[in-house]
Amino acid sequence: MSTATQAGRVLSGMRPTGQLHLGNYHGALRNWVDLQYQYPCFFFVADWHALTTGYEDTSMLPEYTQQMAIDWLAAGLNPGVATLFVQSHVPEHAELHLLLSMITPLSWLERVPTYKDQQAELAEKDLATYGFLGYPLLQSADILLYRPQHVPVGEDQVAHVEITREVARRFNNLFGRESEFETKAEKAIKELGGRNSSLYRELRRKFQESGDTVALEKARALVQGNNRITVADRDRLLGFLEGSSVAILPEPQVLLTPTPKLPGLDGRKMSKSYGNTIGLREDPDSVAKKLKTMQTDPARVRRTDVGDPGKCPVWQLHEVYSDDATKRWAEAGCRSAGIGCLECKKPLIDKVVEESTTMRKRAQEYEENPELVRNILTEGAEKARDAARETLDDVRRAMHLRGD
Ligand code: TRP
Ligand code: SF4
Repeated sequence: MSTATQAGRVLSGMRPTGQLHLGNYHGALRNWVDLQYQYPCFFFVADWHALTTGYEDTSMLPEYTQQMAIDWLAAGLNPGVATLFVQSHVPEHAELHLLLSMITPLSWLERVPTYKDQQAELAEKDLATYGFLGYPLLQSADILLYRPQHVPVGEDQVAHVEITREVARRFNNLFGRESEFETKAEKAIKELGGRNSSLYRELRRKFQESGDTVALEKARALVQGNNRITVADRDRLLGFLEGSSVAILPEPQVLLTPTPKLPGLDGRKMSKSYGNTIGLREDPDSVAKKLKTMQTDPARVRRTDVGDPGKCPVWQLHEVYSDDATKRWAEAGCRSAGIGCLECKKPLIDKVVEESTTMRKRAQEYEENPELVRNILTEGAEKARDAARETLDDVRRAMHLRGD
């Protein structure tokens, strides 16, 4: 049994929505590419989640899944270091979802902000379904199944990680109880050895008294890095940090993506549903054409009018793509009407084209050999299942279900 969070493990997922755009890249994917070299990472295509809002027509699902995987590889996710897979290839997600559904109060799901918001936003669809209500719980199962320490997501997903933590806590309280837990935990603290014992107590006190999560992380690392104690004691010590039961499903932490707000062509947030996107693998002519017509400071009507970069979505792209010298040039030229908007956009077009050209090159091999992608995803699913089975074995045992 190994119920500890896997030190530093990272897990995240994305719904397959077809080809990714620059907003997806700068808002999430680019961060994943960095993370894969710092932590053991699991990234998956959440195809079951796509069904919660798109159940009438599922015909595009295979294509969207394939395209998303190609985008990931094109952006630099490396299947040699990160585990890439598809949710529905790992049926353990469904079993854990079912088991967690038994202990999750309806009210917890009803009060998740995305529930009402999305129903209102997608009013043309009938989202009064069981599956849609259960969306955050399926996400909790996705996460808890891998016992990750970090879940990199944007602001919009924080509430889902929060409910995941609550569900984990409830599960551990219900099924992680053992007789004389506190006595056993106290004994385990002594096993840590002199200095480490007092350090553990100190960090635990800090976390419990003031919710200091840095102290919690330090304490977890202290426990996980100690190889003198037994696995059972390790799980007790991890559980004792947060409560009075064994941490069968440890609580994960949000790793907030440092998201530069990427504007779309019309100045609103870049989003598929607004039709204002530039694709990750868009061809150079199309990138240039789109950027040339992109919204600028509305007050700058004529070439001779001065502009304000603070009111211009193109400027926000400069913030993401341009170096300091280019930014100074654009800002000064804009404020003095020294340059025209097309001129201002030129270096930006070059940068975006350069980026998409790299992606297109990397994607080409996979587009020509779709079975390469399928193999990567099959291998990824096998690795994911190994990790998932370990957790489910512990979960089943704790619930007095088949404990093999
Ligand atoms: N709900 C996430 C989104 O829409 C996708 C997702 C599903 C996810 N399961 C997850 C993200 C688990 C992180 C962890 O973006
Ligand atoms: Fe925007 Fe550049 Fe035009 Fe100024 S010059 S309004 S920053 S595009």
